[in-house]
Amino acid sequence: MTLAPPASPAAHTDKRRYVREMFSAIAPRYDLLNHLLSLNIDRTWRRKAVARLECEAHAPGLFLDACAGTLDLAAELANRPGFLGRVIAADFAPAMLRLGAGKGVDGVIRPAAADTQELPFRDGAFDGAMVGFGVRNLEDLDAGLRELRRVLKTGSRLVILEFATPPSFFLRVLYHLYFRGILPLVGRIISRHPTAYAYLPASVAAFPPPRALAGRMEGAGFRDCDFRLLTGGIAAIHWGTR
Ligand SMILES: C[S@@+](CC[C@H](N)C(=O)[O-])C[C@H]1O[C@@H](n2cnc3c(N)ncnc32)[C@H](O)[C@@H]1O
Repeated sequence: MTLAPPASPAAHTDKRRYVREMFSAIAPRYDLLNHLLSLNIDRTWRRKAVARLECEAHAPGLFLDACAGTLDLAAELANRPGFLGRVIAADFAPAMLRLGAGKGVDGVIRPAAADTQELPFRDGAFDGAMVGFGVRNLEDLDAGLRELRRVLKTGSRLVILEFATPPSFFLRVLYHLYFRGILPLVGRIISRHPTAYAYLPASVAAFPPPRALAGRMEGAGFRDCDFRLLTGGIAAIHWGTR
């Protein structure tokens, strides 16, 4: 059975269940669609996001990749030249985590089945945390941000990579044509999931824009929050210090 998407992508009631079932179902095609639909730009975004973690300042360090999916962001960190730390890659869809096997240097990444809103880690366990295209899917964004803050050491960073809507009118028109027209169609054909790639643009439209997200991070207790738009504002990297 495939669950219908929540009535609104921001709806709290059935979102968690829908998101978990949807990612479990599309897991085998997730990587292919990610790189295809982003024309591989996502690789550059991930590299830039990982650089913002400033992991060298906490070397060797224990880092969290929350909503880790198929471990692309965790692997980007683990494979970074000179990285000697460890990465816990947490996701509540084990089917996604399994597909990441073999992406990082042996033994550096440890997958963990866990909900980002109830992380099974002690306070201050991590020297840095990152979330790639994950916070938009949380049932309760503020609760998730507070939970990420809880597991970070004082002085360590949270980095969030997330989709956004381009500020330029011209780019926004092209973006909507692609994001609301082509992407759901190609996504539906390749993933064979009826709603996953329609949920994607709907969830981006319902998500707080970058400045508002930076404010929500501050509200959750992070300081020095800022962001940088990527590729004309199609995506953004956010960071804040615990
Ligand atoms: C769009 S994928 C991103 C995966 C990966 N971070 C990347 O950059 O490709 C979103 C992931 O977040 C996970 N996710 C969504 N809500 C979650 C939650 N509350 N707790 C843990 N994982 C969650 C999904 O299972 C999915 O694997």
